[in-house]
Formats: sequence, C-alpha cells, structure tokens
Amino acid sequence: MSAISFQQVEKTYGSGVRALGGVSFDVQPGEFFGLLGPNGAGKTSLISILAGLARATSGKVTVMGHDVVDDYAAARRSLGIVPQELVFDPFFSVRETLRIQSGYFGVRNNDAWIDELLASLGLADKANANMRQLSGGMKRRVLVAQALVHRPPVIVLDEPTAGVDVELRQTLWQFIARLNREGHTVLLTTHYLEEAEALCQRIAMLKQGKVVALQRTSELLASTSNTMLRFKTDHALPASLADRARVTGRSAQVSARDAADVEVVLAQLREAGVPVEDLEIGRADLEDVFLNIMTAEHQQ
Ligand SMILES: Nc1ncnc2c1ncn2[C@@H]1O[C@H](COP(=O)(O)OP(=O)(O)O)[C@@H](O)[C@H]1O
Ligand SMILES: [Mg+2]
Repeated sequence: MSAISFQQVEKTYGSGVRALGGVSFDVQPGEFFGLLGPNGAGKTSLISILAGLARATSGKVTVMGHDVVDDYAAARRSLGIVPQELVFDPFFSVRETLRIQSGYFGVRNNDAWIDELLASLGLADKANANMRQLSGGMKRRVLVAQALVHRPPVIVLDEPTAGVDVELRQTLWQFIARLNREGHTVLLTTHYLEEAEALCQRIAMLKQGKVVALQRTSELLASTSNTMLRFKTDHALPASLADRARVTGRSAQVSARDAADVEVVLAQLREAGVPVEDLEIGRADLEDVFLNIMTAEHQQ
C-alpha cells in the first residue's frame, strides 16, 4: 500500500482555471518525497485535495489506503499538514492551540508529546504566549507542531520555509528528518531546490498542472550533463554556444557532458574572441535540472 496515491487527479476551479491536468504519482511509506514546481504549477491545489479542503474535479486520492472523499476522517487522521498560509486563532496560547488540535483528533492526555514538540521546535518558552504575540517564524513553528500533534504517519509540508530565517529552517529540517528516520512519510513542496536535493529521495516536478519529471533525486541529477560551466562576460556568445547557454545579464551557464565537452566550450569561446571572467566549472545541481526541464517543456 502506498502512503499517498494520486491517480489521474484533475482540478478545474469555478473560475475556469485548470490547475491540475491529470496528475498521477504514489509516495511510498517511509519516503521523503519532494514536489517541486514554479508558482501556479498546482502544488497547493494538489495538497488541498489531499487534505480534503478542496474536491478534485476527477481522479482518486488516497492516504494510507483511505480515500480522501469516501473515507475522509481516516484519511485526514493519517495526515499532518503544514499549510502554506499562516492560519491560526489569535485568542489561544500555543499550548491551548495544540491541546485543541489534539482534541479534534480525539487524542487525550497528550501533554508529554506536546512538550516534546515544543522543545524540538524551539517553542518551549512560548508555550503560554498568545498566538497573536508571536513573530511570523514562531507562528510557523506552531503550525508545524499543530500538524504533528496527533502523530500522523504522513507529514505534508507546503513551502514551509518560504521566507523563514535560516535558524528555523535548520530546526525544522533536523526535526522532520528525524521523524522521517523514525518511519514517517514526508511530502514536501519547496522553492528551495537545495533543500529538496539534500532531503528528498524522489522528486516530482509539476508544471502547469502536469508532472513533467518524476525520478529518484540521484537519477534526476545524473540525467542532465554532470558538469556546468559558469562565467561572466560582457560579450555576446557565439551562435554555437548561445543555443546551449542560459544567460542572465552578464552571467552565463553552459552545461557540458564531460571533460572533453568542457574543452570544446572553452575553445569556442576562445575562437570567438569572447573574454570571460570568474570562470567556474562545477557539478550541475538540482536547480540546473529544474531549469532545463522547465525550459524544455516551455519550448514544446
Ligand atoms: N481557490 C482558487 N480559485 C481559483 N483558482 C485557483 C484557486 N487556487 C489556485 N488557483 C489557481 O490554480 C493554479 C494553481 O495554483 P496553486 O495550486 O496555488 O499552485 P502552486 O501552489 O504550485 O503555486 C493557479 O493558476 C492559481 O491561480
Ligand atoms: Mg502553493
């Protein structure tokens, strides 16, 4: 049984926007899975359907074998969702918020776990603070604690680190990685590709409501040329390179298949009389893969 299963999920909003055009993939129990895609790709729509907050126009979604529509309560209990938007009730303290959430899932006498969550997320000294007194970063920590309060087997984080400070990111990833080691399944959407590269075993890339890549992270990284030349120049690149280069202002990136290909690129620059500065030759990272895939799709 899959931890999460999306089968041919389509979503068209009342406004006529087609956010998801038939998305299918499964996340296996214990996996740390990344869902990447530019703004508007449909990530939050997919997670809203998973959480039962939105209805798919068609298709089937299950969590730990429970259908999110027909078996909503069991599906929802299997999930801990950290939403993209900060939503909270300003009248309760942090501890009250977590106790209420526990009660919602029918979990009683949960204070030992609540204390562990508070400690692990750096919230111990904020337990009695009112939600409205907390900074944005602290509120986000509470949202994470809230998602985990009923110890769900499947944890879903929708851009949890968008705009949060480095310290929170590190606290969060240490904690989520520990839960994953302990057997929890994690589905993460993020804009920070280096996070996905470091954490996720498999990655699906979503673009305009369609899965455009789905692979092990290591395969995704190997699928592109392994080498990337990065340099700066004030000159236009020769036609032979312009096709394969990604240029942003003065900065250019050219991917190369291997060392011999690196020499070809350098020779073409030299022959064209293009002077370069700050030349670096490095490994292609997930960002390169992502941009390659997104650009390739764009050209179709
Ligand atoms: N509640 C909604 N009503 C109408 N359109 C929506 C709604 N939510 C999202 N959309 C549209 O659906 C598309 C996908 O959005 P979203 O799922 O938020 O993508 P992502 O999370 O990847 O940025 C976008 O075009 C967005 O404007
Ligand atoms: Mg989103």
